[in-house]
Amino acid sequence: MKIRNIALGLALTAAVGASASADARMDAFVDSLLSQMTLDEKIGQLHLPVGADIVTGDIMNSDIGGDIAAGRVGGVFNMKGCDKIREYQRIAVEESRLGIPLIFGMDVIHGYETVMPIPFALSCSWDMDAIERSARIAAREASAAGICWTFSPMVDISREPRWGRMAEGSGEDPYLGARIAEAMVRGYQGDSMKANDEIMACVKHFALYGAPEGGRDYNTVDMSRQRMFNEYFEPYRAAAAAGAGSFMTSFNTVDGVPATGNRWLFTDVLRDMWDFDGFVVTDYGAIPEMMSHGMGGPEDVTALALNAGIDMDMAGMLYLNVLRPLVEQGRVFGQQIDNAVRRILEAKYRLGLFENPYKYIDPAREASEIYTAENRAAARAMAPETFVLLKNEGSLLPLAKNGRIALVGPLADAGSHMQGMWSVAADPSKYRSLRQAFADALEGRAPLSYAKGSNLYADPELEAAVSIANGIRDPRSEAELLEEALAVADGADVIVAALGEGIEGSGESASRADLTLPDTQMRLLQALVATGKPVVLLNFSGRPTVMVYEQENVPAIMNVWFGGSEAADAIADVVFGDAAPSGKLTATMPRNVGQIPLYYNHLNTGRPRSDGPAKFEKYRSNYIDSPVTPLYPFGYGLTYTTFAYGDPVLSAPEMNADGSVTVTVPVTNTGSREGTEIVQLYIRDLAASVARPVKELKRFARVTIAPGQTENVTFTLGADDLKFYNSDLDFVLEPGDFDIMTGPSSADVRTVRLTVR
Ligand code: NOJ
Repeated sequence: MKIRNIALGLALTAAVGASASADARMDAFVDSLLSQMTLDEKIGQLHLPVGADIVTGDIMNSDIGGDIAAGRVGGVFNMKGCDKIREYQRIAVEESRLGIPLIFGMDVIHGYETVMPIPFALSCSWDMDAIERSARIAAREASAAGICWTFSPMVDISREPRWGRMAEGSGEDPYLGARIAEAMVRGYQGDSMKANDEIMACVKHFALYGAPEGGRDYNTVDMSRQRMFNEYFEPYRAAAAAGAGSFMTSFNTVDGVPATGNRWLFTDVLRDMWDFDGFVVTDYGAIPEMMSHGMGGPEDVTALALNAGIDMDMAGMLYLNVLRPLVEQGRVFGQQIDNAVRRILEAKYRLGLFENPYKYIDPAREASEIYTAENRAAARAMAPETFVLLKNEGSLLPLAKNGRIALVGPLADAGSHMQGMWSVAADPSKYRSLRQAFADALEGRAPLSYAKGSNLYADPELEAAVSIANGIRDPRSEAELLEEALAVADGADVIVAALGEGIEGSGESASRADLTLPDTQMRLLQALVATGKPVVLLNFSGRPTVMVYEQENVPAIMNVWFGGSEAADAIADVVFGDAAPSGKLTATMPRNVGQIPLYYNHLNTGRPRSDGPAKFEKYRSNYIDSPVTPLYPFGYGLTYTTFAYGDPVLSAPEMNADGSVTVTVPVTNTGSREGTEIVQLYIRDLAASVARPVKELKRFARVTIAPGQTENVTFTLGADDLKFYNSDLDFVLEPGDFDIMTGPSSADVRTVRLTVR
């Protein structure tokens, strides 16, 4: 076996000397390699083909195998399994002229085979340790199967529940989103990718993908730069500062130019302002898509991307096919190509692939470290933290394990839907259904009856759109399904309804214009409520849904999102009180689609409506036919106990512009069971050179408190927490008065005044 690059690496390390810094050794190594590469080999490093659709059959004979041998490939993505990955790597290191190893990427968005709750759900835990752990487990499993690069975290802020990809992000808040972005980068990359279970993160989608007009996926985005910096950029910046190794472009326009060709975004902001020194990959086919955006032909869009600072072309084929003629025409320069190649080689170097191209390819680990009991237990323990209990009249939940329980709904016996969207490596055949989990939880104690009750949608075409590979459609008519459900309900003391979106009802290309429960499911729910029996609604969803009927008529509502491979058992744990839900909303839930965008950290208008009763006020900023308030606000969520908050107390009423202040708030568990509360701190800058939001989250803490006990929760605020980007985009603190607010949600706070001198 000839692995030329290893010999080369050793020689270079010796040449630079043992005392040289790691960076100097890497520079020398990459310089030497670059000096040996032909233009075509360099261009090959910038090409990232998809592996998934070409791995059936003999890899050796496939085109991609030939391209790898010819030095025309830099990496491959979305291939599952060590055998295939090892074979491609072998071709790269043994058959290509320079033996440069490939990088293997995958959409490991919320776990590999052990699937964690979807990212939006994870954000509702507000638990940075759990989120970091979820990324760590994902990295361990993915790396055991040859993956060294994940297309995660997705950190796009979104106030757009019509947009299906809210499911993949962390909701609407930039501060919380930034903390989650850091936690995930740490979880994936661990100790700078030194170990063979630490993989490279790819922060996406830079930038602003979460703000498409009308909530329609891939649609135009247009916003002021001040809004970008103050309200959308923070999670990307934080992920870069946490050392993320790569970034992905977004499909949308930013300031009129598609992100993938936007030099201001990638060079001025990401690299120059934020000092990002990793590499940038496009989203899938985003370079050719710039032609549809109206940026010219293949050569124009390719030059635009390279000039913008985009290093690697995912599946677009244009860098591979068009860069050479562009160099020959003088439209791009060899130096630009060298810069892009250098950044990709540096990533491979940092991953340790030049030392050992097979570092991440270990069949023994693949056989023993994936979907382990330990990882599954962690996923099961994490899920209840993500569930948001929205209503619990008369403490209906948790249910006692006695009496007769009816489990009804299209998602009640649908193990293959539990893991949620974007689970490329999942094995849904292994995942249990709610029906199985409930039966086990109740075994010998209480009878469980089950009926499907309805399909996901009345229309088979809509049903197919939300369950593409995981069809669960029942051929019976709506009336037959309903009749069966009512018969089952008739014999029960309590009904648990498992309703909501199918696995593909949120995620990429899953925008919705109507956010209520799908038609046939709503009719089922209304019929169940009409029986007069207590109903618990478990709402499966990847985004905020509109639930006005439910709030008015259903005694207990819990959003369980999509809780991952272990969701069914985790839901049973919570429904029967072996665990408690402790999540809080990270996106506002509107009353109707007409209110969107609806988010807590909005600016005030000059004509805000009064705090009085929710009725229309002429010449005020409100609606004739709808309240302006949300159905459930950002930060809201109940648990199985209750908490009372005291007033926040400042360490001093005044603070110097370079000083700090502590804020202490007493929180008492007023219920009869231990519980976990997410305590939130918001600020408002009362007078500034640009309008500032009515509230901004600046701190939060998850605290577990015994019944009857009071916890004094203390936060420290410093100057940076009070700063914002002004109209020159300078990050400034303007002295003056600030409201400091603490409470259990953004809509329930007590205030103290701080003056900054
Ligand atoms: C398109 C998606 O937008 C992106 O998030 C994903 O990583 C790529 N496809 C690769 O599958």
